[in-house]
Formats: sequence, structure tokens, C-alpha cells
Amino acid sequence: MGKIVVVGGNKLEGSIRVNGAKNTVLPILAATLLNAGENIIHDCPALKDVSIMIRILEFLGCKVKREDNTIIVDSTNINNYKIPDDLMREMRSSVILMGPIISRRGKASLSYPGGCEIGHRPIDLHLKALRQLGVKIEEGHGYIHCETAGVVSNDINLSFPSVGATENVMLAAVMAEGTTVVRNVAKEPEIWDLQNYLNAMGGRISGAGTSVLVIEGVKQLKKRVEHTLISDRIVAATYLIAAAITKGYIELTNANAEHLQAVLAVLRETGCKIYVKGDSIILYSNGIYPMDLIRTLPYPGFPTDSQAMMCSLLSLAEGTSIISETIFENRFKHIEELIRMGADIKVDGRVAVIRGVKKLTGANVEASDLRGGAALVLAGLAAEGTTSVSNIYHIDRGYERIEEKLKQLGANIKRQVSQHCFERKDI
Ligand code: UD1
Repeated sequence: MGKIVVVGGNKLEGSIRVNGAKNTVLPILAATLLNAGENIIHDCPALKDVSIMIRILEFLGCKVKREDNTIIVDSTNINNYKIPDDLMREMRSSVILMGPIISRRGKASLSYPGGCEIGHRPIDLHLKALRQLGVKIEEGHGYIHCETAGVVSNDINLSFPSVGATENVMLAAVMAEGTTVVRNVAKEPEIWDLQNYLNAMGGRISGAGTSVLVIEGVKQLKKRVEHTLISDRIVAATYLIAAAITKGYIELTNANAEHLQAVLAVLRETGCKIYVKGDSIILYSNGIYPMDLIRTLPYPGFPTDSQAMMCSLLSLAEGTSIISETIFENRFKHIEELIRMGADIKVDGRVAVIRGVKKLTGANVEASDLRGGAALVLAGLAAEGTTSVSNIYHIDRGYERIEEKLKQLGANIKRQVSQHCFERKDI
């Protein structure tokens, strides 16, 4: 399998552009199924998850073209409503295809999404909300069969502001009969981007960014829609933390500081100087101070997707920090690997107590999930000696050529790919 090999010690210095967001390209690609027409989406990142979503769209009957960072989906002919098990298992996010397939075809059949490295990830909120929209759902033998004579509006209350469930309801209800009101929805910027996309298609959705969405069902959608994705706030946070951990300097362009408020506030407290100008964020590291408590929360709280990188940074802080993970049940696997590198971290359930050490040392470590893998690469940038991170297919799910971008910033880093394994042309 491929590895990323980092020789630590180089300060990062320089500028990079942040790509379009993974967590918005996936629901927007799912939305392309709705309009039976042409969808042009700009600034799409070249990621493994995006390739998988494209394969599923093609399987369902879409014609998909990729021109540099633009993906063009023609969804005129959808001749399938079933997603095969092997494709479902490759990407958990495929569950958001349920809403648009049901809306378009009146039925959908798919297996449960693949298990997940960061804990049990049920889809009960998705299924409950779809049932409330008049969809009959049968579950059995690992499969979910959905059928409806027509999606109908309803008042829905999510018991947790799940990002995926919010998206599924938006995608299912945009063409429902009547007006759907959804309360306690996710407020993540990705919801706002999906709302903009669906409205550009002719949908009538309002409320993104607040806890209540109002979806007025429309009879028809436009046959052509063109959209540029918002920038990836988690990728932006990763490169900011990479500069901070090497006590370096970075300028991000195409970044949205508004979407990163919680991360920027924490980075300032850990000692970084941060300046925002338009879509640029500049960070200078100025030492690494500990944090009393970081608690991951739904947006606008501190994102769970940045928790692992923050563990790496605080491993080198001048004191003790506490991180509490409230979103996912098993999202501390990177910590065992950080301990191999000399970090002093104790975990009790969902709480990690991180005693800052003077140095980390390079080691052979294994990425066990996407963000945890990125956190190990960041730790390697600051460690003494060589760190080799294996299982990097996890990292490729969410980062475009991470090693090339870090190299551009001055890191001593390379990808080692063995002849028989994963090839980048796949993504
Ligand atoms: C999305 C993001 C992911 C991020 C997460 C939380 C995408 C593609 N992924 O994932 O990067 O870490 O939001 O910000 O956008 N839950 C249930 N039942 C459900 C659905 C969710 O119990 O039906 C629970 C989950 O197990 C988890 C919590 O709710 O503990 C948050 O999940 P959710 O917000 O749905 O995350 P995703 O949409 O899967």
C-alpha cells in the first residue's frame, strides 16, 4: 500500500489555494439527479470520494464529464434506482442519494452504507424523516427498499442536527407536494451551499444557516444549472494547523474565514497571529500554548473534523490541554499512533488529556481514518526524524495531493507507492 514519508523539522512557509469542499461536492453531485438536465459544477476537488460518487451516478444512468476542476453531469436519462452493495460500501455519504433517487424515480433500493472507522454511524434520522415525507421504507437482509406514490410535505423535527439527514430531506422534499418545515437542522456552511444549488435549479428553500429550513415544493426544476462550490473549511484548517505545528507561516487563498471562526479562535489562543483579508487568511505561528478545553460541536462550534489535527498540535504545546469529542463515539484512533511518536496523551471515553511534550519523534504509523491520517502527517512535519504514514487511501478520500501541497510549502515529504497498489489515476 502507499505511504506518505515525511522528514520533520522544516518550517512551512508560503501560499496555497484551498480547493472546493468535499462535503459540499458530494450532496451537490447527488442533487444533479433531480433536474433531468445539465449540471455544471466548478472547483470540484480530485478526491477518491468524488470518483466513487461519479461512478454511482454513471451506474444510475447519468453521463458525467470532467474538465479540469469542472464536473458536468447530464442526468436526462436515469434508468436505475438501485445502488449495488459494493459501491454503497465504498462511501458512507452515498446514503444522501436516497432522497434524490426517490424524488426522481419514486423508489430507491440500496444497501446500508459501509461501516465506519470513527464509530457506529446509524442512519435512523434519515429514514425517519423520509418516512415522514410519505416514503414507505422496508429494511431487511442489509438492504433498504424505499417506495412512494409521491413525496409529500410535512413538519419534521430532527432529534439531532445531522448534516446528512438535513441534506437528504432537502433533496427529497425540493419537489414535494406542499411546504416542508424542518426544525433542528444542521447549520453547517455545506447546507447553505446545497440550498444555493437547489435554488439555482429552481427550488424554493430558505433558512440555511439557521435551525429551521422551509422547503416549498416546486413542480419543475431548470434543465441547466451552473455553480461554484464553497471552499473546503476542513482542508483550510488542516493547512493552517500544519503551519502552526511547524512554527511557520502560511497564506491561504480561496478561504472563507467566516466558516472557520471556531478554528481560528482556537488557533489564536494557541499562540498564532492570524490576519484575514477578503478570501485570504494569513497565519504566523508564535509558539504553541495549551487549551483548557476544546469541545467538538455541531457548527458553528469547533468541528469534529479538525479535532485530530488539533491533537497533533497540542501534543507539542507548553502545558496540558483537554479535548472532548461529542459528535462521534470513536474518533481518537490517531492518538495511539501519536503516542508512538512520543506524545503524552491519556484518553478516557470521549475525553483526551494531552500533556505537551518538548518533541515528537518520527515513527511508522497507520492512518485509521481520513482526518486522523492527516493529523499523523502534520505530526510528522514537526517530529524529529522520519515518519512513515501507511493506509493513506484514507487521506486521499479528503485531500487533493496533500504531499504536493505540503512540499510546495517547504516540507520534506513524498508519496511512496508500491507497484501493485492504488494508483492516483483512479481519482
Ligand atoms: C458530515 C460530514 C463529516 C462530519 C460530520 C459532522 C459529509 C460528507 N460528512 O457527516 O465530515 O464529520 O458531518 O460534522 O458531509 N447520527 C445518527 N443518526 C443518523 C445520522 C447521524 O445518530 O441518522 C449521528 C452520527 O452517528 C454522529 C452524529 O449524528 O454521531 C453526526 O452525524 P452527521 O451530522 O449525520 O454526520 P454526517 O452527515 O455523516
